[in-house]
Amino acid sequence: MRTIVRDLMSTPPVTCDAGTALGDAARRMRQAEIGSIVVVERGKVTGILTERDLLRAAAAEAAPAGEPVELWMTAHPDVLGPEEDVDAAWASLTHHTYRHLPVVDAGELVGVVSLRDLMRVVRLRPADEAGTEVPAGLEGVVAAETQVGDVRGLEGFFHYRQYSAVELAAVRSLEDVWYLLLEGELPDRRQASAFATEVAGLRAMPPGLASVLPDVARRGTPLEVLRSAVSLLGPELGWRPTHDIDGAELRAQALGLCAVVPTILAAAHNLAAGRPVVAPRPDLGYAQNYLWMLTGSEPGPEHARAVEQYQMLTIDHGFNASTFTARVITSTGADLAAAVCGAIGALSGPLHGGAPSRALDMLDEIGTPERAEAWVRAAVARGDRVMGFGHRVYKTDDPRSLFLRDVARALGGPLVAFAEQVEATAVDVLAVMKPGRRLYTNVEFYAGVVMHTCGIPRDMFTPTFAAGRAIGWSTHVLEQAAHNRLIRPAARYTGPPPPQPVPVPGA
Ligand SMILES: CC(C)(COP(=O)(O)OP(=O)(O)OC[C@H]1O[C@@H](n2cnc3c(N)ncnc32)[C@H](O)[C@@H]1OP(=O)(O)O)[C@@H](O)C(=O)NCCC(=O)NCCS
Repeated sequence: MRTIVRDLMSTPPVTCDAGTALGDAARRMRQAEIGSIVVVERGKVTGILTERDLLRAAAAEAAPAGEPVELWMTAHPDVLGPEEDVDAAWASLTHHTYRHLPVVDAGELVGVVSLRDLMRVVRLRPADEAGTEVPAGLEGVVAAETQVGDVRGLEGFFHYRQYSAVELAAVRSLEDVWYLLLEGELPDRRQASAFATEVAGLRAMPPGLASVLPDVARRGTPLEVLRSAVSLLGPELGWRPTHDIDGAELRAQALGLCAVVPTILAAAHNLAAGRPVVAPRPDLGYAQNYLWMLTGSEPGPEHARAVEQYQMLTIDHGFNASTFTARVITSTGADLAAAVCGAIGALSGPLHGGAPSRALDMLDEIGTPERAEAWVRAAVARGDRVMGFGHRVYKTDDPRSLFLRDVARALGGPLVAFAEQVEATAVDVLAVMKPGRRLYTNVEFYAGVVMHTCGIPRDMFTPTFAAGRAIGWSTHVLEQAAHNRLIRPAARYTGPPPPQPVPVPGA
């Protein structure tokens, strides 16, 4: 039977307010024999104070009667829902090395789950099996350390380096974020302009690739063409294995790769349509130039900014499947082209980056708002996935989806209002038919709406995603190469017991 958080949480939770003196909070914890106290203001969780925090306070000689809890608590902690599976709770606690998490239902605190509670339901195994059990799909497994960024699924928050990615998308340019990922800090005005000029100058396709692209472009989708073109880029530019080159050489390759990907994609699109290739323009910003090459006309500023914001929001996102793929390939010491080809392959799948065009196909099939409920019900009953909904890490609103919904609203047009109606209906249907799974729109749902409104054709949605994500992949390749150890996990063999006698032919 499925065990959920409600089955094992401690209740009623012990609480205090932010102004409670540290000594009082510690006394209440001792009396209740618990390791944490939840800080609540007007019924809402604002923090958690744990034994660890008390130790820190003691080490800093904080006055127990004088200092308020507020100064030592962890503010805005991750929370769990009561219907959540214990596996998810376990993944969350161990991923962040938390020992206690408040449980919140419809905004109200209803309990606390501790590592101790979870240990009670952990199945004990022989020592030689310890550490070999991993959740299906490696859910919640920490496979590496990174300084590039992270996703906090329960909070609906993600960041690049030390900044909120959503805030970056609101106020900075894509080139600034690209610089941030590479250098670890945002550029000042002079650095930003020098960097934008440098990468704009790297957009032209190498002649050897340009000469074969017309042939390649006839043979596949734009994403397949990109995968093949990146494969050819390596030998064309003489890229050697990451194992044999230093960080500076790899950085230069990464800049060139990310600058030329939009050029390859736009060329693939135009060639497939029998149109001439549009040369890149170094006087335009990243997204402006992309739309220019794709359509042959200069985009309106609001369209260029919307596409730029979409690409900024999708540059990086934790250890997603394509980023992990790029890092695994880099860990073998293979070259940058190999790592990015593998990543493009992983991204192409409908469960990862292949969803935005399917989400738009779904809106087309639904056709009118009143058909949405029956359509979604039938799809879920058949066991189909509703495209653009659900996420491995987000168990609340995907912040990228919220941002892009606002972008789509600002752009206007008939599609956004319809998409919002379908979203509301699908969230309700999924809540009823898949209770406790917490399925909301992910980035792909409104990505399709935004790109469509900006004139990007449907078969270029995932390629447009890939163009921005190449910056994230390259950053991870650089990080992996700089601190490399071969990624080589193990599998549990479940076939017939070996060794069986090998049948001798003819015997
Ligand atoms: C993104 C995704 C692959 C994450 O999958 P995951 O973490 O492995 O989740 P699971 O596949 O284990 O799904 C958990 C449950 O939710 C259901 N579920 C998840 N996403 C769903 C969706 N979009 N539509 C319907 N049901 C969904 C599953 O059927 C499963 O139900 P079950 O417990 O009855 O078997 C998944 O949500 C999905 O397929 N979404 C649609 C494709 C998509 O939009 N991809 C873009 C991702 S950014």
